[in-house]
Amino acid sequence: MPNLLMSLLPTFSSQSNIAVVGASGGIGQAIVQLLSADSRVANLTAYSRRVPPSGPKNVKTAFIDLENEESIAAAADISASNGPVDLVIVASGILWQGEHLRPEKSMREIDIEGLTRLFAVNAAGPALVAKHFLPKLRKGSKTVFASLSARVGSISDNRLGGWYSYRASKAALNMLIKTLSIEHARQWPDSVVAGLHPGTVDTQLSRPYTSRTPQRQLFTSQISAQYLIGVIDQLRPEDTGGVFAWDGKRIAY
Ligand SMILES: NC(=O)c1ccc[n+]([C@@H]2O[C@H](COP(=O)([O-])OP(=O)(O)OC[C@H]3O[C@@H](n4cnc5c(N)ncnc54)[C@H](OP(=O)(O)O)[C@@H]3O)[C@@H](O)[C@H]2O)c1
Repeated sequence: MPNLLMSLLPTFSSQSNIAVVGASGGIGQAIVQLLSADSRVANLTAYSRRVPPSGPKNVKTAFIDLENEESIAAAADISASNGPVDLVIVASGILWQGEHLRPEKSMREIDIEGLTRLFAVNAAGPALVAKHFLPKLRKGSKTVFASLSARVGSISDNRLGGWYSYRASKAALNMLIKTLSIEHARQWPDSVVAGLHPGTVDTQLSRPYTSRTPQRQLFTSQISAQYLIGVIDQLRPEDTGGVFAWDGKRIAY
């Protein structure tokens, strides 16, 4: 039974209004589960394409498709109907899909379909969420817009090669986050726009590619969600535009 007096978000408003996008995913679900039991969370709206019939009692669920801007604008209005928004977490993303869209091992496998799909969901999608949600953030107290990126999106840390579309889509996401942070800070100086790397997490997204990951380096979604919420709570305005790993360490672009 969660202790309702405990909060994982002590640096946020005591009546926080939270939006989680990608709430049907492994990490997204775990984030919703943890935050729905938090004493500082007044409203939590969980957005996904597959809207579950029911969830935790105090969680509202609603539809979003990152490839449909109207659904993103409608989602921002739903969250704002509860008042100004304190925290937006984008936990959506794709690495592979079906038989034909798989991370490329070689340049021979690069094609326009894979590149376009991964850019649409991993980079354009979170940017459109930012476009519609950032203007709805609360002013005058700490707010955060955090989008799940990935360490492999770091250009300076790329030693192995491969995974062209995924790496490039996350590098593009990091640039979008940095650029959004600059414009947003002009009117929201207390706000943080950041990318987060969740670690290697046992979810549907990673499962086909983790057979060689040592067990102690493979997080459950629950552990990763706990780390990520801890990092979000520690973020300060001077961190805006950065990408941070589950342990709070900054990842170079
Ligand atoms: N797992 C890892 O090891 C790992 C490592 C580094 C980074 N990450 C990042 O962490 C994030 C979450 O990954 P995960 O492991 O939790 O994956 P997951 O379990 O596969 O969840 C992915 C989520 O993305 C959503 N999504 C996909 N396409 C969408 C679209 N067009 N519109 C709206 N939502 C869409 C899915 O929703 P639907 O149910 O609607 O399909 C699902 O909720 C991703 O950005 C991923 O790149 C994960």
